Amino acid sequence: MSKPRVWATHALFPGPRKLLEQQCEAEYWEGELRPPRAEVLRRVADKDALICLLTERIDDEVLAAAPRLRIVANVAVGYDNIDVAACTRRRVAATNTPGVLDETTADFAWTLLLAVARRLLEGDALARSGQWKGWNLDQLCGADVWGKTLGLIGFGRIGRAVARRAQGFGMRVLYSDAIRAPEEIERALGATYVALETLLAEADFVSLHVPLLPETRHLISAAQFARMKPTAFLINTSRGPVVDEAALIAALTEGRIAGAALDVYEHEPEIPPALRQMRNVVLAPHIASASLETRTRMAQMAVENVLALFRGEKPPHLLNPEALAF
Ligand code: GLV
Repeated sequence: MSKPRVWATHALFPGPRKLLEQQCEAEYWEGELRPPRAEVLRRVADKDALICLLTERIDDEVLAAAPRLRIVANVAVGYDNIDVAACTRRRVAATNTPGVLDETTADFAWTLLLAVARRLLEGDALARSGQWKGWNLDQLCGADVWGKTLGLIGFGRIGRAVARRAQGFGMRVLYSDAIRAPEEIERALGATYVALETLLAEADFVSLHVPLLPETRHLISAAQFARMKPTAFLINTSRGPVVDEAALIAALTEGRIAGAALDVYEHEPEIPPALRQMRNVVLAPHIASASLETRTRMAQMAVENVLALFRGEKPPHLLNPEALAF
């Protein structure tokens, strides 16, 4: 029997690549930038599996171009780039990589939070500039983090990992979510469930940890910024469109919030020039899960999902079990 044919839209890392090649005939996109849409449509035509990144939109057009395709394995936990319903209709399995990136992403949410509160990038720029004239009492005074109130919007695995770190900073932790967490989790993490309005009004740091869904698109818009404290900061490591970027720019411009630290944007890779010019904004290029260990584990997990399917097993992180009749 011939080996399943796989196209990965990235060269992947050596470990996952080796595993894949033991059992599949694999081709990779080796380009530095993401593959153009036409290339995706062309390369999937004769493939049994597609391993893709969140930068590829996998919709009915791609599926129609891939008549043999049996699985789309996303190398990401968020899968808003995949039309899962279309996959199900065409009996194509769709998988993601949950769990392996929680701690790494939580570390980065804290990296952003601390950087914006303590004006790290402004300090770095001054230190490098050759213009620093020495210690001064009121120089680059930021906001304290310890003892403040952290508001987590979304209290899944990543939100909880962020909450756990807040304990070391002696913070009060509030959270809002569509589903309330079990009491023992709330107790262990010292987190209090509140309505979104209460969280916005009371938090000094509002950090987003929801998936992008129709219900969470522009969850944070003008009305929400109006509720936040003028001293509060917004941290976003979830998905860009969860925040209404125009409303964020307005809130920052008018001083309705103190600052923002962002890893994700509404129209990636575009970052509005207004944001790029603000000194009270920390910007990262969607790297919250980007430790070498974690990105390797994510790629490994995507490969494992593919291999499981071709062994006749249910892929461990299957998003649409109804697509497969086992
Ligand atoms: C990264 O953004 C992911 O969803 O894994």
